[in-house]
Amino acid sequence: MTKVLLLVGSPRGRISTSTNVGNYILDTIRPNGFETSSLIIRNQLSSEDKISEMVKAIDLADIIILTAPLFDDCQPYIVIKTMEIIFEKKMQLEGKKFIPIMNCGFPEPNQITAVAIPIYRKFAETVGLDWFGSLAIGGGQMFHNMQKDSGKKLDELGKVANLLLEALNQISDALLSNENYQDIELKILPDFWYTRIMKRIVTWMNNIGWKRMVEKKGAQMDAKPYSQ
Ligand SMILES: Cc1cc2nc3c(=O)[nH]c(=O)nc-3n(C[C@H](O)[C@H](O)[C@H](O)COP(=O)(O)O)c2cc1C
Repeated sequence: MTKVLLLVGSPRGRISTSTNVGNYILDTIRPNGFETSSLIIRNQLSSEDKISEMVKAIDLADIIILTAPLFDDCQPYIVIKTMEIIFEKKMQLEGKKFIPIMNCGFPEPNQITAVAIPIYRKFAETVGLDWFGSLAIGGGQMFHNMQKDSGKKLDELGKVANLLLEALNQISDALLSNENYQDIELKILPDFWYTRIMKRIVTWMNNIGWKRMVEKKGAQMDAKPYSQ
C-alpha cells in the first residue's frame, strides 16, 4: 500500500491552515487505498526520540506532503531544521515523491514562489526527492480565521473555499492516478484584489493594524535595538 506522510510545518500545529489543507488531501486519498499518517514538525523537534520517530516515518513513506506557512518570505525555522536533519542524516530518499504546499498571509501567491518554492526545489534536488509539484496558496490566513471562528472544516466553508478545494482535489487526483502535479500559484480572491489600488489600500490598512498592535504591546514602532 502506498504510504503518504503529511509533515505539518506550522508552529500553530493542529489549528493551522497547513494542517487543514494537508488533512483534506489525506481524507480524500485514504479511502482509495493509501496508507496515511501525519506529524506536526513542531512536536517532533522537541526531543531526540521524537526526531528519530520523524526520520523513521520519512524513511517509510513513499510520498511526503509538506505543508507550511510562509514566514518572512521563507520557510519557518522548524521546516528549515527538518530539511537540515534530513540532509545531515544523508537519508536515502530516491523514489520518494515530495509535495510542498505553502500558504501565506498576503493574497499574492508569488510571495511564496519567489523564494520559498525554489528553496524547496533545491532541497529536493540535493537530497534526491522526486519533485511531484507544488502549491502556493495566497491568502491562507483567511481560512485560518474563518475556521477558527466557525469551527468548520475546509469543505464546510462554502463558496469562499471552492478554488482552494479544487486545487487540493487536483493534487489528490494526481496522487490517485500516479501522475505528477504542476507548480501552481493559487489566487483565492477575486481579481480586483490583485490590482495596484487594492494593494495600496491593503498595505495602508495593514500598516494601521501593525501600528495598533505595536502600541497595544507597549513597543516602539521605529525601534532599532541593534543600531547602537
Ligand atoms: C513570523 C511570521 C512571518 C510571516 N511572514 C509572512 C510573509 O513574509 N508573507 C506573507 O504573505 N505572510 C507572512 N506571514 C503570515 C503567514 O504566512 C500566514 O498567517 C499563514 O496563513 C499561516 O499559516 P498556518 O496557519 O498554516 O500557520 C507571517 C506570519 C508570521 C507569524
